[in-house]
Order: sequence, then C-alpha cells, then structure tokens
Amino acid sequence: MILGRVKPLDAILATAEKKALHRSLGALQLTLFGVGCIIGTGIFVLTSAGAQKAGPGLMLAFVIAGLVCLVAALCYAEIASTIPVAGSAYTYSYATMGEFLAWTVGWALVLEYAIAAAAVSVGWSGYFAGTILNEFFGVTLPPFLAAGPLALGGQPGGLVNLPAALIALLVTWLLMLGTNESAKVNAALVAIKVSALTAFIVLTVPEVELARFNPFLPAGLFGGIGAGVGAVGAAATIFFAYVGFDAVSTAAEETRNPQRNVPIGLVGSLLICTIFYVLVAAGAIGTIGGQPIMGPGGVPFPAGSEELARQCASAAHAAKLVCSDEALAHVLREIGYSRIGNILGVAAFLALPSVILVLLFAQTRIFFVMSRDGLLPEVLSRVHPKWKTPHVVTAITGLVVAIGAAFFPVGQLADIANAGTLYAFLMVAVAVMVLRRTDPHRPRSFRTPMLWLVGPATIFGCGFLFLNLPREAMLVLPAWTAIGILVYALYGYRKSHLGRGLVEVHEPEIHDLEPAIPGVDERDPLDPPRAPIV
Ligand code: ALA
Repeated sequence: MILGRVKPLDAILATAEKKALHRSLGALQLTLFGVGCIIGTGIFVLTSAGAQKAGPGLMLAFVIAGLVCLVAALCYAEIASTIPVAGSAYTYSYATMGEFLAWTVGWALVLEYAIAAAAVSVGWSGYFAGTILNEFFGVTLPPFLAAGPLALGGQPGGLVNLPAALIALLVTWLLMLGTNESAKVNAALVAIKVSALTAFIVLTVPEVELARFNPFLPAGLFGGIGAGVGAVGAAATIFFAYVGFDAVSTAAEETRNPQRNVPIGLVGSLLICTIFYVLVAAGAIGTIGGQPIMGPGGVPFPAGSEELARQCASAAHAAKLVCSDEALAHVLREIGYSRIGNILGVAAFLALPSVILVLLFAQTRIFFVMSRDGLLPEVLSRVHPKWKTPHVVTAITGLVVAIGAAFFPVGQLADIANAGTLYAFLMVAVAVMVLRRTDPHRPRSFRTPMLWLVGPATIFGCGFLFLNLPREAMLVLPAWTAIGILVYALYGYRKSHLGRGLVEVHEPEIHDLEPAIPGVDERDPLDPPRAPIV
C-alpha cells in the first residue's frame, strides 16, 4: 500500500546528525537571509498586475497574502526544527504522510521553484529592457524579442523573451560551475533591495493624494472563484512576492538556539517585507493612481491579456501603473524622479538574478533528494567530478526554466508558481499536525503556538487563495499532478529505495570531497542554500 511507505524519521535524522552543520546563525542573520530570498519580482514587477486586479485594494491584498504566509511560517518553523534536513516540504511529507503524497509535494515544488525562477527571469527582463537598454543606451528591444507569445487564455504579443531566457541560462551556468553568492555579496544585494524600496517609500509616500485611493475596491473584495480579480484575487497573485521565506527553514540545522531564532527569522522577515510592500503599494497608487482598466461589465481586463495589452498601447492608458513592466521605476519617473527611477531600475537589474539563483538552487536540491530516494533517475544525482555540483539536474532544470521564461508572461508564471507553492504550504501544515499526533514525544525545538488553530488556518488560507487564482493557473496544478502520478506509477513506485527495502542512512557522495575553493565554498549539493546567508 503506497500510502504506507513512510520514511522512518530516524533514518532521515541520522543523515542530518552525520552532517552536523556548524550552528552559527543568529536571528538577525536568518531574518536578513529571509528578506534576501523574498524581495524580488513580486514587488518590483507584479505590483502592476496586482493593481490591475484590485486597484488600491492591492494594499489589502498584501496584508491578506502576508497573513496566510505568517501562519504557514509558524508551521514551517515547527517541522523544520523537528526534521532539519534537506528537501523541505518533500522530506517533511515523506516522513509523515508517506511516499505517494511526498511525491506529489515534490512534484508541486517544481512549480514553486522552477516556474518561480522563470517568473523572476521575466520580471528581470522588464527592467533590463526598460532601464538598462532603453534609458541608458537608448536601444529599444524589438517587441518580438521582449515578450513570449504564449499565454494561457491571452496573447501578450511577442515571439520570444530573449533577455529572460538568457538570464535564466546564465544563472544556470553559474550554478553548474558551483558559483554561489558569497555572504558579502548577498549582504550587499539585500542592502540594495532594501535601500531601493526605502527610497521609493520616502519619495512617494509624502506625495500621496488620498483621492487616488477612491474607490478602494473597484473590483470588489472577491471576484469569484477562478476569476482572479478583486482584492483576494490580487492577494493570490502577489502571494508570489512572499515566496521564498520557506528557505529560512532550510537553515534550521545551522542555527544557534533554533527554538528562538528560526521563528524570529521566518516571522521577522515576513513582517519586514509586509510593511515594505504595503507602503510601496500605497506610494505607487497614491501618487500616479492604480485603478484597473475596466473591461465589459465593469470587470478589470485580465492582467497579461491581449485585451489589456491593446488598451495599454493607447495614449490614454500607456502611462498607467497597471501597464508598466517596471512598475516601481515607472512611478518614480512619472512623479519627476527620473534619475532615481533609473537607479531603482539598476537595483532590480542587479538584485533579481540572486533570487533566480536561490530558486534554481532549491529546485535542483529537491530533485537531487528525490533522485537519491530512487524516485527519479539516478543520473540526476550525479555530481560533476571537477565542479562538485549536480550538473545534470542543474542543466535540465535551467533549460526548462529558460523555455518557460522565453514563452510565458510573468503574471501567469507567478500564478502557476503560486498554485504549486500553496499546495506545498498546505501539506506542510498537515504534516505538522500528523506528526504531533503520530509522534507527540519527539523533541521539537520549536512548537507552533495554538497549532490546532494555526494549522487549519494555514490549510484554509492556502485553499482560499488557490481558489482565487485565475482559472487557468488553478487548472495547471491538477494537470501537473496527474502527469506526476503517471511518472510515479511508471517509474518511482518500482524504483523507490524505500519500496525496495533500501532505507539506508544516505551520505551525499561528494561529502568527503575537498571544496573547490578551499575554505570558501563547500560544494555539498545537499546543503541548504547557505552561501547567501549573511
Ligand atoms: N518572492 C520572490 C519574488 O518576488 C520569489 O521574486
């Protein structure tokens, strides 16, 4: 019975025990690490799509999505402190709910990480084309090279998004070579992102005109299931802006006093980002306005759709927030701070690739763990003799990400990534509750407060946001899961190490190898993404 294939927790923990990572991280470092993983395309780019769905209600949308992430973070904090090993939600599910459900979670994490990496690549390309090429070099990228042709349910009207595909491939190449950001580079990038958002808030908030917030909810609170509009519809999309906080939980094994510091890191980074996001949304909408462009029946045109693109091409709408590919830089230019707008564009240009790197890194490590468990072909966990990285899986993942980035618009990629992420968060909440019941006495360095409220709240919140995604994005999850189940039935079920009775305590094969740059970078492909930690 496949649901009975539960991986023994002690075998999983023994792996972690052997790795015995040095506990060096404190609360502040974890929080900064979280902020570094979180801030990206969501706020720098999707602010436009969010405003098109909710108008000024975007501010409320950031609060709603932040609250759902907050309860999910409390669940992550407990399970990460109980099972502090690689593989994130996939491993947690394997140890609590068995192989089949764990497989579906691992399969959904492809949407969270790989598709999100594609979304951030497309977000980056907007700033590259707008600020770097256009503002600095006076070069306009031909439209057919600046956007992909495919959209589920709409046509953004391009051929291929060349910059997005190229940045995805460049980051893949760096990961294959084993390049990771040094702690100092990450600290600098966090500082750049936070300074850019701070400057934006300082310049825009004093100029806010309250009249711009009226009507506050032009598309209502709920747009209806699958409609993807209204404040909750916007929350389902800009949920993307918070994706990545779960990376903090992967550092539980390296944290001093994880009982205190992991929850502080998770909750602290979320709170900081929520405050920034709400203020940024207020500054953007309060200065240049953020009312949606309405279609027939008083319903906003879908973000990323052909109809909206057509409206945005007209002189009447071209300068609107909802039409911009580089939302925040655009706002600053519109209110007379062109130079600072360009500097903000450079900040996004510099900082977004590090978000792609963290997401791609996480994806390759999930695949690596799944392949090590026998659920995916072993070739994927092959490690390059010189680079000491899982180069095969990195190359395949990067190629898929580049193709996604080349052909799909950012909003739809983000929505699809959200669908997978919401499923993974929901399953983590279930896993925490299952483990409390099945193994109540196992030591937990952090216990979720009021779990029997917080756990169901996470499940409800994730389910609710999922139902408020646009219909097409919602349908991708069951379709993708069906493909996953087929792959499992044809391959993983038979090859599973657990199924074949091979539950050994694994050690990564490269564990004893020398780091390629001694003392700088330990190339254990299973380590959580430590390098970016400040
Ligand atoms: N939260 C990350 C971003 O907004 C994924 O880019």
